[in-house]
Amino acid sequence: MKYKHIKNIDTTKDFILPCKKGDLKPIQQFLPVKNPDFDGSFLTHHLIYGKEGNRIYLVGLGEEKNASQIENTFQKFAFETCTFWNAEIQVLGDHLNDAAILKTVIGLEMSQYTIGAFKSTKKDTKKVTISFSSKENIQKVLEEGKFTGEAINKIKGLVDAPPNIKTPEYLGDWAKKSSKEATYTCTVLKHKKLKKQGFDAVIAVGKGSVHPPVVIINEYKAKDTDKIDIAFVGKGITFDSGGLSIKPSTNLHYMKSDMGGAAVVLGVIELVAKLKLNINIVGIVASAENAVDANSYRPGDVINSYSGKTIEIIDTDAEGRLVLADGISYAIKKFNPEYLIDLATLTGSVVRTFGYAAAGMFTENQEMANTMSAVGFKVHERVWQLPMFEDYEKDLQSDVADIKNFNGKPIEGAINAAKFLEFFTEKHPKWMHLDIAGVSFGGSQYAQMKSATGFGIQLITNFIKEKATK
Ligand code: BES
Ligand code: ZN
Ligand code: ZN
Repeated sequence: MKYKHIKNIDTTKDFILPCKKGDLKPIQQFLPVKNPDFDGSFLTHHLIYGKEGNRIYLVGLGEEKNASQIENTFQKFAFETCTFWNAEIQVLGDHLNDAAILKTVIGLEMSQYTIGAFKSTKKDTKKVTISFSSKENIQKVLEEGKFTGEAINKIKGLVDAPPNIKTPEYLGDWAKKSSKEATYTCTVLKHKKLKKQGFDAVIAVGKGSVHPPVVIINEYKAKDTDKIDIAFVGKGITFDSGGLSIKPSTNLHYMKSDMGGAAVVLGVIELVAKLKLNINIVGIVASAENAVDANSYRPGDVINSYSGKTIEIIDTDAEGRLVLADGISYAIKKFNPEYLIDLATLTGSVVRTFGYAAAGMFTENQEMANTMSAVGFKVHERVWQLPMFEDYEKDLQSDVADIKNFNGKPIEGAINAAKFLEFFTEKHPKWMHLDIAGVSFGGSQYAQMKSATGFGIQLITNFIKEKATK
């Protein structure tokens, strides 16, 4: 889709009228009838025809409480109607603020996501120009919306991709290609370099797979200084069988989505580079396949890690925290970032706690928690804080190594995973862990099975905006 700014709507052609619930006033002058059968309810739309036979779509923005998720109403509307659109369609934007226009564009762009990327016959994608009317110059907002929607679609494509295609090496190639398109630096460390540099935990997790692990390092620097403002670390398990502590087969295919954290990190670096935000950030993805094989790492093994700390493996299905430990240690040692944030589909426990409504947030830094929480509500990618009490620490003490990777109990799962990660943060004062296992993959009206949600792109990009200098 292409997005363009226009001064006024041409009422003889097709146009869209976004409409708040129960408030037809701002759009009244564009209506050919006084009382259309439409009340502006969220996620609804209505078609009427103008005098020239042109289409006039009324799209419901809903109430004030729906403002944080306007993209959903436009995604649904465009998904259901765009096959009937001509080469150009206009949107009345005069009565919308920048935030609403941004969300509108994101939603329109999101409607273009096709889940059937691997079908032998592909759906045609429409080339439509969408012209937004506004008295202000909204070109920058339109561009941001387009880039954001595209980033969401791209990471959904990655998370939905099958695990035989989406190997760790594939993620590395994706990042390399993206770095050339969006202009940032990308380094992909493969087996030899991982071994040499001591990524022992990443290597252990990937040992059982024919697809060797990689660590991806993306650097975007817009400032004059080399100081890194924020480092992100993403869990990139391209398939999580559980390893020798094998998972049950029911819904095992969904474990292709265990690189949701990595996808957010990859997508955000690309988006921030395209938006040219004034910030220095790095994205580190620790990627491996957790497979079952004679070479797989075992429960009982003691492994080393990038930090030099040894880990006793109790359960090979607690693999995400292992690759993240190396990613976190690397981020601190190489980049000494002011903020350090990891994202991971880390535990079933967080899904049982919050379902699909919020990500688990862990940090000792309340300023960071408050900012992330506020941003989450603003973009409707909500996070909710869980405690990091010292009480949880002793459960991770190992008799034989520095730490063990699982407390062996069916309780406090998400918190314990966070406590394990904390052990590798060297008391970093501005570290946060986001457990996105429930929110990055789920049911939707656009697919029969669970699929990627794109959660995290707006949350993290807006957090970065809070920290970027104007
Ligand atoms: N990838 C899973 C977590 C997960 C569960 C993601 C459901 C998405 C949906 C993770 O590696 C895992 O297996 N965690 C275990 C840890 C346990 C063995 C300590 C869990 O949460 O059950
Ligand atoms: Zn696992
Ligand atoms: Zn996992």
